[in-house]
Amino acid sequence: MTSPLSLKHCRPGPTKRSSPPGAGAQAVILPAVQREPLVDGHGRSIGDVRISVTDRCNFRCQYCMPAEGLKWLERSSVLDFEEITRVVGLLASIGVGDVRLTGGEPLVRKDFPKLAGMLAQLPGVEDLSVTTNGFLLGRDAAALVAAGVNRFNVSIDSLQQDKFYELTRRDALPQVLEGLHTLAAFPEAHPIKINAVAIRGFTEDEIPAFVDFAREFPFEVRFIEFMPLDADHAWEPEKVLSGAEILAAINAIHPLEEQPREPSATAKVYNFADGKGKIGLINPVSEPFCSDCNRIRLTAEGKLRTCLFSLHETDLREPLRSGASDDELIQIVRDAVWRKELKHHVGEPGFIQPARTMSAIGG
Ligand code: 5AD
Ligand code: SF4
Repeated sequence: MTSPLSLKHCRPGPTKRSSPPGAGAQAVILPAVQREPLVDGHGRSIGDVRISVTDRCNFRCQYCMPAEGLKWLERSSVLDFEEITRVVGLLASIGVGDVRLTGGEPLVRKDFPKLAGMLAQLPGVEDLSVTTNGFLLGRDAAALVAAGVNRFNVSIDSLQQDKFYELTRRDALPQVLEGLHTLAAFPEAHPIKINAVAIRGFTEDEIPAFVDFAREFPFEVRFIEFMPLDADHAWEPEKVLSGAEILAAINAIHPLEEQPREPSATAKVYNFADGKGKIGLINPVSEPFCSDCNRIRLTAEGKLRTCLFSLHETDLREPLRSGASDDELIQIVRDAVWRKELKHHVGEPGFIQPARTMSAIGG
């Protein structure tokens, strides 16, 4: 199979983001997409890239990292800001306009707001978002908003201090909530989403507090089914608290109304029937949404992954560092994406958990 290089398609036009600060009046306006868009061998257009900017993290969430941490990458193995900016610029030129920065914990990367600013200025980057554990938002929220980050996901698995500590192995809930409220003061940062991994035996008791939280504050609380991406390999199907179970529990407190699904969305979004607040359910295990997946991922050391559960990845760092041209890099990406997995096999006999944990993939 080869990529359909003959496709002629151009998608210039308005961008979702407003110009970042510093984009001068003389800036040359380039069409958002100058080359053929990126498609996989199953006919899906790829428009979203998740970039892990570091494998390091200041938390040790049980569903992700082991208590003692992992062996971190050498600094020289990690893509530098210029390398990341080049890859994102090339991806944006083939229609990958949604860029999400993740980790590890992205805010522990030195000068992270500077990187965000470099990416925000790239033609074709329509949406720049960050997924963070929130611990350093008090320090960095203002700089990230000023750099042009326009959406944030903050991970909070429990609103009780002791249970937060149990799951993340850090007694950090007060600081995370402070960081969240610092962020929430910036109108440009909204909508803000809260991610809570849903684990049987842990999350059931959290639901009422999250319901109140989603109704009181302008945050969409999203429950994500626990996936087998944990370092401890403790995942088992019985530990997945399904979206359907959460939906039933919430409906019993305050009824929800399902909203139409956006194309390629991961979450099913619900409004409270009385109009106060929103809930999202991300059900990758019980209701996989692979059929219109538009996402690819880049690890901190420059490996392109075409699925969260990929067992195979494509190195971009070596060609980046050995002088590959833009066209050569794009062709490497096209060839890898052409072979993007049709779907994941979580829960099926013979499923193999990838060697990487979520922290080393980029969620
Ligand atoms: N299953 C589901 N979600 C996970 N995350 C990390 N590990 C897992 C897992 N094993 C979530 C984090 C964060 C996002 C990047 O992915 O909580 O919100
Ligand atoms: Fe860190 Fe996020 Fe993994 Fe928790 S889930 S250990 S915050 S990378």
